[in-house]
Amino acid sequence: MSTTAEENRAYWLAEEEKLDARAAMARDAGGPKAVERLARQGKKPVRDIIAKLIDTGTEFFELSRIAGFGMNYPEVEDVPGGGLVTGIGKIHGNWTMIVGNDPRVKAGTYFPITLKKHMRAQAIAERCGLNSVYIADSGGAFLPMQADVFPDDQQFGSMFYNMARMSAMGLKQITLSTGGNTAGGAYIVFMACQSVMIDKLAYSFLGGPPLVKAATGETVTAEDLGGAKVHTGISGGADHFCANQDDAVARVRDILSMEAPQTLHLQRFPEAEPELPPESIYEALPLNTAQGINARRVLRAICDAGSLMETKREYARGRGDNIVTAKMRIKGMPIGVIASNATGIIFVEAARKATEWIIRCSQEKIPLLFLQNSPGYMVGSASEHAGIGKYGSDMVRAVACAQVPRIQLVIGPDNGAANYGMCGRSYRPHFLFHTMRARTSVMSGRAAAEVLLSIEERKRLDSDAPMSEADKQAFRQSMMEKYDGEAHPFTSGSRLLSDRVVKFSEIREWLAMAFEVSLLKPIGPPAFGNLRF
Ligand code: COA
Repeated sequence: MSTTAEENRAYWLAEEEKLDARAAMARDAGGPKAVERLARQGKKPVRDIIAKLIDTGTEFFELSRIAGFGMNYPEVEDVPGGGLVTGIGKIHGNWTMIVGNDPRVKAGTYFPITLKKHMRAQAIAERCGLNSVYIADSGGAFLPMQADVFPDDQQFGSMFYNMARMSAMGLKQITLSTGGNTAGGAYIVFMACQSVMIDKLAYSFLGGPPLVKAATGETVTAEDLGGAKVHTGISGGADHFCANQDDAVARVRDILSMEAPQTLHLQRFPEAEPELPPESIYEALPLNTAQGINARRVLRAICDAGSLMETKREYARGRGDNIVTAKMRIKGMPIGVIASNATGIIFVEAARKATEWIIRCSQEKIPLLFLQNSPGYMVGSASEHAGIGKYGSDMVRAVACAQVPRIQLVIGPDNGAANYGMCGRSYRPHFLFHTMRARTSVMSGRAAAEVLLSIEERKRLDSDAPMSEADKQAFRQSMMEKYDGEAHPFTSGSRLLSDRVVKFSEIREWLAMAFEVSLLKPIGPPAFGNLRF
């Protein structure tokens, strides 16, 4: 049943209110008491420090702010925001990655999700060539989970492995130590290109006072063991001594003021406002995620007015049209678009059209936007015989090999192999954004319920306990709830399967930032592996 524009709008606005509420749970972790506790120590909440660090009047693009909810870790259900704030902001006009521990969440310790968030921020910085600022205030590994955070690749040691390699690439990494940095965590101070420590707030040592006492019998205070005076005056492990957080923030800005201005590796044209207001997206997208969409309407609310130029619009209407391929400009930047349209089911014609377009944009060194609303490739014998397997594979190959910046925005179903062909997480898009309409799972709840039901029915028949109609209905219902719950942007956002759940009204700003940041490095030559055609 189709819904009216008004119904869609009211529904999505209400969904985004829930998103705001969840983000506020991370922003206000610990409540006013936690903020008062910080204030007594002479500290501000980490987002307040970041607000001072970035250029006045500019926006901090906070990534993955709903990470860490419903993790079900031992002793801890939620780790609000993953216990870490990451995001991109401008410092002296240059896009910079900022990573800050939130000491209000279990003393800023590292859970598996905290590490994943830290690694993701470093991966973006490395790939896009961004300098980084680390605001360090952490109790180190969350000790009850040491086996899950310490020894493996992509765990604790990888933070410093990344710092070393990124430094070797010429990327500046500045650590502003504003609290404890104990044991392995101390390396965040010592491995930085330049580190700033704050008098009587910042500590850095390989073993804290209790460990030192146990190991050597020495009794020493944290300040005398590894405070700011020790490391800036005696050990030489840190470079700048500051009296308080405000001075330290100013010092970091001064350090980065010496950086050369970044350049965009793309011809940028004058920008224009979109032809349709962003608010029209709320009305255009049906609240039922299984219902087809008009991708052109969405694109016209994102791109600069008059810049949308489709290719192959007339090709194989009804089948080829399930993917719209186009060029358009976002804030003056030319972008190639692969957009799911109508039901989004990918037929042979749509797959071929998309592959051709990905390769063409790669030849032209034009970055790509994947607007994802696809429940999968077309199944059935007609489709198999026509070669959906090989043409789908070609699309996946092209996506995997395209050397241009690629960004995925999910505005609906995101299932099965369509997740690959439309540049899902495994295809390493430079940025991946979800909206509240995104549903990422191997198949829809409805499809999964039927597949699993057929298996369950067979098992029950074998054990002479056939399912009644009521049993089947209850089974279907519980599977649909499980699958739809796991596909929801809150679940994917918690587990960092997206870089941000953006509101419809924010899409244009976020895409513009993400393309700009992704284009700070020159685009190399195209190279594709075997294609079957
Ligand atoms: N693992 C698990 N939990 C930890 C932790 C760790 N490494 N460090 C701190 N916590 C927990 C505390 O138990 C406390 O939990 P609670 O709120 O449920 O009571 C919470 O984090 C806050 O810690 P607290 O000590 O009250 O905060 P603080 O601001 O007074 O001190 C530290 C912060 C980091 C200086 C202090 O907690 C500390 O020294 N921690 C141990 C650091 C360490 O040795 N790490 C080695 C691991 S690499």
